[in-house]
Amino acid sequence: MSAERRLLIEQGGPGHRGPALPACDVPARPLAELLPGVPLRGELRFPQVTEPEVVRHFIELSTLNHHVDRGFYPLGSCTMKHNPRINDELAALPGFTQAHPLAGDGATQGCLRVMATVQRLLAEITGFAAVTTQPAAGAHGELTGLLLIRAHHRARGEGERRRRVIVPDSAHGTNPASVNLVGYETVVVASGDHATVSLEALEQALDDRTAAVMLTVPNTLGLFEPQVLEVTRLAHRAGAQCYMDGANLNALVGRVRPGDLGFDVMHINVHKTFSTPHGGGGPGAGPVAVARHLEPFLPVPLAVTGPDGRMRLDWERPQSIGRVHSFNGNFGILVRALAYILTLGPAGLREVSKVATLNANYLMRRLAGTYELPHPEPCMHEFVLSGRGLRKHGVRTLDVAKRLLDFGVHAPTVYFPLIVEEALMIEPTETETLDRLDHFAGVMERIAAEARDHPQLLRDAPHTTPVGRLDEGRAARELRLKWDPGARGEAPAARESTTCR
Ligand SMILES: Cc1ncc(COP(=O)(O)O)c(C=O)c1O
Repeated sequence: MSAERRLLIEQGGPGHRGPALPACDVPARPLAELLPGVPLRGELRFPQVTEPEVVRHFIELSTLNHHVDRGFYPLGSCTMKHNPRINDELAALPGFTQAHPLAGDGATQGCLRVMATVQRLLAEITGFAAVTTQPAAGAHGELTGLLLIRAHHRARGEGERRRRVIVPDSAHGTNPASVNLVGYETVVVASGDHATVSLEALEQALDDRTAAVMLTVPNTLGLFEPQVLEVTRLAHRAGAQCYMDGANLNALVGRVRPGDLGFDVMHINVHKTFSTPHGGGGPGAGPVAVARHLEPFLPVPLAVTGPDGRMRLDWERPQSIGRVHSFNGNFGILVRALAYILTLGPAGLREVSKVATLNANYLMRRLAGTYELPHPEPCMHEFVLSGRGLRKHGVRTLDVAKRLLDFGVHAPTVYFPLIVEEALMIEPTETETLDRLDHFAGVMERIAAEARDHPQLLRDAPHTTPVGRLDEGRAARELRLKWDPGARGEAPAARESTTCR
C-alpha cells in the first residue's frame, strides 16, 4: 500500500503539523473543570499530519473511485449530469449555512423566502396547486404522497376499504416498497405490448378497494405512457387517486405538466433534475406536489407569505399528516434547485429535457446494432439494452459493466428494470457532448467485440482500477465498517473481500 493509501491516523506523527496557531492568551484550565459532569475520554488521538500531506491524501482518495467529475456516468435512473458549481457556491453562503434551525421566523426571512419560492416554482413547473419541500429523497416523497392519499380516503370515510395501490411492472422499485410502508397492498399490473400500461389489465385491477394508481412517467424503460390521460381517467372513475412518480422529470421539465395529465400528487427528485448529483448516497430532496383537494393534508409546517408580506412557517393546518422531516428538510439542496431553476428560466429548462431526450435517442440508435434493444420505440431520457446476446460467449452484462471502468466510464444501471433480461439501463443526460457520447458508443462497440474474441478479458475486468472485481455480495452481507485503532498497519476489514492490486 502506498503512503497515500494509509489512513490519516497512520501517517505523520508528533511534530507534523498544519497551521501554526498563535499562543494561547488565556489561562489554560482542565477540560473537566470547563465541562463538569460531562463524560470525557481519557485519551483522544488525532492525526498529526502536515497540510500538504492532508491535501494529497484527500486528492488521492478522490481519484480512487469513479465520479461524475472524472468521466461519463450513464447510470440509468440516476440523472448523473454535471451540476453548475455556482449553485454550490450559493448554497454555501453564510446566511444559509449559519441559519440556526431553531431561529424564529423573524430571523430567517430569507431562508423562508427560498422555501416558499421553491414551492411556488415547483408547483408551476409541475402544474399542481401546492408543494411541500420536506421529504429528503424520492422514496421519502413517495411515502409522503401515499400518506396524503391515505388521509384523503380517510377523510371521506373510505380509509378502511381503499387499501390497494396498482403499480405497473415497469415502475421504479421503490414504488411497491413505499406502498408497503404505509400499510397498503401492491397490485402489480403487467405491461402491454409496448411495455406501457395495458388499459385492459388496469381496468380489471381497478375496483372500490383501489386507493391509488402509481405510475412512473416516463417508465423505467424510458418510455412515455401514450395513454396516460386514459389511465388517470379510469383511475378517477373508480374513485382512486393518481400518483405520479416524477423522479424522471428531467425528461419532461418545461414540456409536460403532470398536473395537466390528471395526476393528483407526484414527487420530484430534486437531486436528479435540479442540480444535485444523485448517485453516491449524498443528501437529496423529494418535494411533493399536490392538487388542491390534497393541500389540506400537506406536512406541517409550510413556508407561507403573510398578508403583511412577511414570511412565516404555518403550523395551523388541522388536517395535516404531520411532519415528515425534522426542521426544514435538506435546505441546501433547495437553494441549489432555486439557483438552477432561476438561472435557466423556462426556455433553459425546456432545453434540458430536449437535449436529454436527444442524447438518449442518439446513443440508443448508435448501439442498437451492437446490443439487443428489446423496446425500439423512441425513448425519452434513457433507454434499456439487453446483454443477453453475449451469453453465448460466456459473458454477462455485469462483465460489460466492469470492463467499462477500464475506459474511464461508469457502468450503466445493470439488471434493472427486471422486465428486461441482462438489462443495461443507459441515461446520458443533457450535459454530455457529442464527443463524449461517441466515445462511449465506441467503447461499448469495442467491448462487444472483446466479448466475442477475448471473453476472459471481460470476465476478469476491471484491470486498471485500484481494486479488482469486488465480491459485491459478500461485501454487503458481511459488512465490517469498524476500524480498530490498535491494529495499525493492518488491512481494513472491507478489503478482505476485494482483490487488492
Ligand atoms: C423513477 C424513480 N423513482 C423513485 C426513485 C427513488 O428516489 P430516491 O433514490 O431519491 O429515494 C428513483 C431514484 O432514482 C427513481 O429513478
